[in-house]
Amino acid sequence: MPVVVLASLKSSPGTTTAALALCQVWPRAPRVILIEADPAGGDVAARTGASPDPGLTTLAAAGRREITPAMIEQHCRSVAGVPALLCSPQPQTAAAALSTVAQRMASLLGDLGYDAVCDCGRLQQGHPAAPLIQAADLILIVARPTAVELSRVATAAKELGGRARVLLVTGSPVPGSTEYPSAEVAQAVGVPVIGTMPYDPAAASTLWSGSAGPRVLERSQLYRWARRIASAILVGSALSAVEPQPPAPGQLSLPLLRRAGQVVR
Ligand SMILES: Nc1ncnc2c1ncn2[C@@H]1O[C@H](COP(=O)(O)OP(=O)(O)OP(=O)(O)O)[C@@H](O)[C@H]1O
Ligand SMILES: [Mg+2]
Repeated sequence: MPVVVLASLKSSPGTTTAALALCQVWPRAPRVILIEADPAGGDVAARTGASPDPGLTTLAAAGRREITPAMIEQHCRSVAGVPALLCSPQPQTAAAALSTVAQRMASLLGDLGYDAVCDCGRLQQGHPAAPLIQAADLILIVARPTAVELSRVATAAKELGGRARVLLVTGSPVPGSTEYPSAEVAQAVGVPVIGTMPYDPAAASTLWSGSAGPRVLERSQLYRWARRIASAILVGSALSAVEPQPPAPGQLSLPLLRRAGQVVR
């Protein structure tokens, strides 16, 4: 069962939204579980009006000695139609629960009977969900295609190695920033771009509020994108994507990256 991690580096590009959208359109739904593994504290409960419990905190309390696949299922709740293991909105509580369960959960994910989409928040040194990140088949680094964000992505992608892909979020209104095309980004950061999530505020707010019927979302750009990415992940083409060619000298046109010496070759 594939384990997919989504994580950003900074600037809230849309990681949690992408994780939920992917789960909602997952071709093998309902056999996919959303694991909110954000040490800065979860947002899903507050955004959807759900309680974070049962969730990671109750799982950590119940599973101090042992965690079984059945226990993971028992501590999930349904969020916008998706079985989800939510974390506390409080950073300390979220990080403590993750530190307790991440290692044992990581060793169980293969036997869970569910595909797993993990929202790991922001990548950081000593991330308490590091065992989940290490166990992942695919790590999607979520970022906007701007020089400022990509300067961080290059370094992180290099550390994560061959399982990393970049998931771009385009069109979001960041004043004064130029967005670069995917091919150029892939070359500059040295990692393939899995896809470009469209900036679709109407669909994003509908997805979180659950107020409009599913048909509005079905037709949205955000869902169409999510379906393509979910299918690519499940058929494995996301991992077998052609590696970017190293840029020919002088061809790189992400000037800020090049100037900052951040380009991974
Ligand atoms: N594709 C999108 N189109 C429009 N709005 C979006 C999109 N993705 C996310 N948003 C909005 O941007 C805001 C941040 O999104 P989200 O919480 O998913 O980001 P994040 O990367 O998980 O942030 P954090 O690092 O704080 O956890 C939310 O208000 C969300 O509704
Ligand atoms: Mg988030």
